[in-house]
Amino acid sequence: MDAQNRRFRAARVSKRFYRGRETAPSRSRLGTERSGQARLVDATGLISLYAYAMRRRDILLSAPALMALTADEKLAILGGSPVRKTPFPSWPVVGPGEEETLGKVVRSRRWNRNALTRTFEETWAKSLGARYCLATMNGTSALFAALNALGVGPGDEVIVPAYTFVATINTVLMCHALPVFVDTDPATFQIDARKVEGAISPRTACILPVHLGGSPADLDTILAVAAKHRLPVIEDACQAHFAEWRGKKVSTLGTFGAFSFQATKNLNCGEGGALISNDEGMYEAARSFHDCGRSHGRAAVEYISNGANLRMTDFQAGILLEQLTRLEQQSRVRESNARYLTSLLSKIPGIQPAKMHEGCTRNAYHLYMLRYDASKFGGLSREKFLKALSAEGVPCSPGYRPLNKEQFLETTFQSRGWKRLYPDIRRNECPENDRLCQEAVWFTQNMLIGPKEDMDQIAEAIRKIGLHWS
Ligand SMILES: Cc1ncc(COP(=O)(O)O)c(C=O)c1O
Repeated sequence: MDAQNRRFRAARVSKRFYRGRETAPSRSRLGTERSGQARLVDATGLISLYAYAMRRRDILLSAPALMALTADEKLAILGGSPVRKTPFPSWPVVGPGEEETLGKVVRSRRWNRNALTRTFEETWAKSLGARYCLATMNGTSALFAALNALGVGPGDEVIVPAYTFVATINTVLMCHALPVFVDTDPATFQIDARKVEGAISPRTACILPVHLGGSPADLDTILAVAAKHRLPVIEDACQAHFAEWRGKKVSTLGTFGAFSFQATKNLNCGEGGALISNDEGMYEAARSFHDCGRSHGRAAVEYISNGANLRMTDFQAGILLEQLTRLEQQSRVRESNARYLTSLLSKIPGIQPAKMHEGCTRNAYHLYMLRYDASKFGGLSREKFLKALSAEGVPCSPGYRPLNKEQFLETTFQSRGWKRLYPDIRRNECPENDRLCQEAVWFTQNMLIGPKEDMDQIAEAIRKIGLHWS
């Protein structure tokens, strides 16, 4: 906010202050009816607020404006009372079953891949409506096993979104294949499926869409393009447990689907992953790769392919089986809370929740994502908005940076081996993604598993900031 703007604001807020004193009860600036009159900051409070204002001149209102603020209306970042004073639900939710299962594994002395891992694979496959599930040590290894089963290697290109977690890209690089970035759909924040076909070249070996934040990518378009060009699809469903596309669980529609069970995920065992397939040959190839290239069911020293040790342990599987008993109910609460939150946030100018593709019949809401328009918040930068919102007791983050512009990619592409393989790499520009990375705001999934009132508080905190700054 420049000096002129600040003076103008101060004048407007002061006007509101004087008006507020004449009318009681007043309609609060949060847009909800509150009883009682606007309260004045007492003299001592005013001095300390003014001192704070002097220290934080970059983001603060002027002194007359501060006088206008009541204790609960003044922004928490300016010393006011936060909208939310208690933490959001902690994650993960744990019961006695987790301890019991770990104890059983310890006592069994079978600490590697064993009966519990096989049970988890059967249970997870069944709950998704899939034929095969291969448990892995994390989501990265599930993707790595899938790419290797498909024979993706040096000289190949893999189509990836620009808006994703780095692991999606890392696994492609681990195969010495080239990630080809596709720009982001500004409305859904997912890979822009309309741009996938344009990214295909004779070197393309695979399409790797991500169901980011738990919201499915446009699988109708992606699967049609893949079929037309006879390309396999690996669905990165690492954030999309129980998400659905036209009534079918994501991960079951491509050649492979990969999950992560890392600590923050909606289904979690600290670190873990799984690969889903309905194709027996593909499943066997991935299974062999994840087990040092061994042949399933044959001698331990008989190898049918190259491979790695990507196996899950029974400790992880035991925890997953316990956590899985809560997933359906938690997912329903997330969906219902997210729907309600969207209805609240859609009314706030400058806040645009991510939309879903028409084919999405269930969003896993690993993340609640929205776009923030600073111009509707009096020019308050996203970074300051995030700080102000956090101070109101609503944890939030800016999300990803433009992955296609990361320096580590340049370093990789400039290395000796890569220059030999890909002498003239052209990195795609992704302008929509660049813009989204400057405007996005994220809430994490655990904020959606509490009562509906939590959503009211998120919306109230944003409205409070908006009313102070717009
Ligand atoms: C979209 C996406 N892909 C892949 C991964 C990799 O999973 P993991 O961390 O379990 O290796 C993650 C994990 O955060 C992810 O969010």
